[in-house]
Amino acid sequence: MTIKFGMIGGGIMGEALLSRLVSKSIYQPSEILVSEPNQARRSFLAQHYGVGVTGDNRSAACATDVLLLAIKPQIFEIVLSDLADTLSSFPEEIAPVVVSILAGTPLSKLESGFPGWPVIRAMPNTPATVGSGISAITAGTCVQPHHLDFARQILQAVGDVVEVPESMMDAVTGLSGSGPAYVSILIEALTDGGVYAGLPRPIAAKLALQTVLGTATMLHETKMHPAELKDRVTSPGGTTIAGLAQLEKAGFRSALIEAVKAAARRSQELGS
Ligand SMILES: NC(=O)c1ccc[n+]([C@@H]2O[C@H](COP(=O)([O-])OP(=O)(O)OC[C@H]3O[C@@H](n4cnc5c(N)ncnc54)[C@H](OP(=O)(O)O)[C@@H]3O)[C@@H](O)[C@H]2O)c1
Repeated sequence: MTIKFGMIGGGIMGEALLSRLVSKSIYQPSEILVSEPNQARRSFLAQHYGVGVTGDNRSAACATDVLLLAIKPQIFEIVLSDLADTLSSFPEEIAPVVVSILAGTPLSKLESGFPGWPVIRAMPNTPATVGSGISAITAGTCVQPHHLDFARQILQAVGDVVEVPESMMDAVTGLSGSGPAYVSILIEALTDGGVYAGLPRPIAAKLALQTVLGTATMLHETKMHPAELKDRVTSPGGTTIAGLAQLEKAGFRSALIEAVKAAARRSQELGS
């Protein structure tokens, strides 16, 4: 059977992607080969998903459609040295598109590692591990439209996908990359507020989580502007405007804006 999808690194994000590629029948298990150094991990992935596994990174790089890099950024150079022979002998015309999810690793570095190969840099976020992520992708110089289709298809298995120029990747990191942490402390703080107001913690936690989930679902499904939804639940002289006034006094909006700006700045510093 032809290997269409090769993956180097079978960790958390790699498993999230391959589990959905299989469950959504985007690739048959027999068309997937995962390269992973840990024997126990290889056995787990083979048993759970029926995919091919190997300890040899070169085998995964010989896929026909996609080579997904799902290793930690600091392992990139090691993987490149493993692939040295493959990269020098593999005809560029039939090279798979390399999709890298390595945080903070720029296209220039990826493309110099895979000279002549089509390369796409992707930035997924943690909710991708439960199929509710958002990934930003940016295409390298050798990428053709069908390569972008491959990348979109794969990343859409774990959520939504947007295409951005690489210059926006730091901003993406500051918003959707770090955003799950901001939303998590929002939920935690709402829970504490509920406890302060007299609710038992488990009930407060359930109300807080479902309020955030339900609001996001409603905005997503109705395409309503967030300001409109806010106005709809804010009656004159009522409870919500009292709460909103307190949020404004505490600089809630400004705090979130500054958080995204600070994280984007930090991403830029770490990448330079
Ligand atoms: N997790 C997220 O939410 C998230 C979000 C956005 C981006 N990312 C990016 O996704 C990438 C993977 O993250 P992750 O959370 O999935 O990390 P992870 O769980 O540590 O997975 C990395 C995998 O690569 C394996 N590996 C180590 N050395 C290797 C080698 N020489 N050749 C092949 N495989 C090797 C590791 O095996 P061992 O465990 O045996 O070392 C591990 O199974 C990172 O670059 C990260 O920046 C992750």
